[in-house]
Amino acid sequence: MTAPTLDVYLSDEDLTAALRSDATRGLTADPKWLPPKWFYDARGSELFERITELPEYYPTRTERALLERVVGDIARTAQAEVLVELGAGSAAKTRLLLSALTAEGPLKTYVPQDVSSAALRAAAEQVAAEFPALAVHGVVSDFTDTLHNLPGGGRRMIAFLGGTIGNLVPDERADFLAGIRDVLEPGERLLLGAGLVIEPEVLVPAYDDAAGVTAEFNRNVLHVLNQRLRADFEPEKFAHVALWDAEREWIEMRLAATEDMTVTVADLDLTVHFARGEQLRTEISAKFRVDGLDGELAAAGFRTERVWTDPDDRFALVLAARV
Ligand code: SAH
Ligand code: AVI
Repeated sequence: MTAPTLDVYLSDEDLTAALRSDATRGLTADPKWLPPKWFYDARGSELFERITELPEYYPTRTERALLERVVGDIARTAQAEVLVELGAGSAAKTRLLLSALTAEGPLKTYVPQDVSSAALRAAAEQVAAEFPALAVHGVVSDFTDTLHNLPGGGRRMIAFLGGTIGNLVPDERADFLAGIRDVLEPGERLLLGAGLVIEPEVLVPAYDDAAGVTAEFNRNVLHVLNQRLRADFEPEKFAHVALWDAEREWIEMRLAATEDMTVTVADLDLTVHFARGEQLRTEISAKFRVDGLDGELAAAGFRTERVWTDPDDRFALVLAARV
């Protein structure tokens, strides 16, 4: 096996600077909010992996089953030489794609990308060990602003799985998809995994599980603020909230203060007041309709080639070519 290489475009100092800026903006806003990428330090990435195994959290196993069914089709159509995966995390499902892309096509290089360097290093090493013929080239960066740093080296397919596209608000999504289009050559492809709009009775428990793992994942952002910016949040004093917004068709995760409190963020010289019941928005997880996905892709300069959905229409995989 050749050891994976790793490009780090986000140093620890860069991350701290970005969190300073996001926390200053989000914690002084009304209502308060933070971007979801701050869940994912090493502990947050582990908590996410535990979420994927929960009985209530259907997206991961649904997408995996769908991939098992259609990876051959994807590989034959895409004929990718380089697979770039944005927000790769543990790259657990990606094994299916890598196997098919090597068996049915000319894949030579895998480029997992993630903001969580702990998760990325582990994933890159495991994939390199399992697929010794592949060159594995990890990239630590923010997928909203560093797409131009992704290596080339042949016909590319960019995979963005897990429904992470839904964690971007509509304007961010449009910019993100246009950014992907800009780095691809005509005919290169995007493989997008997206959660579909389903009944709230199934959707809401997926974000509010009985064992409380999602609640702990949600509160992890407060641990990250404590560690990185010397804040003094007491995470256990915040209750996990998951709400389905039927109009905007997204789940919102929030943290609700269980009492009046004053939090100090020492490194920002900032004091933040929370009234009892006040909520801090930590994530949106948008769910889609196939027509809507197609429209957003077309607006960004992609032509949808294939759409596959699971038998319960809970999740979609879309293969789109850059026009
Ligand atoms: N693709 C995997 C993991 C999904 S979890 C799956 O389908 O299971 C979302 C992943 O995106 C996490 O690993 C997280 O660290 C990463 N992530 C979130 N925001 C990011 C950002 N702005 N830039 C890069 N990676 C990000
Ligand atoms: C990574 N992302 C697609 C997950 C989701 O479902 O929106 C993150 C998550 N939030 C709560 N549970 C899982």
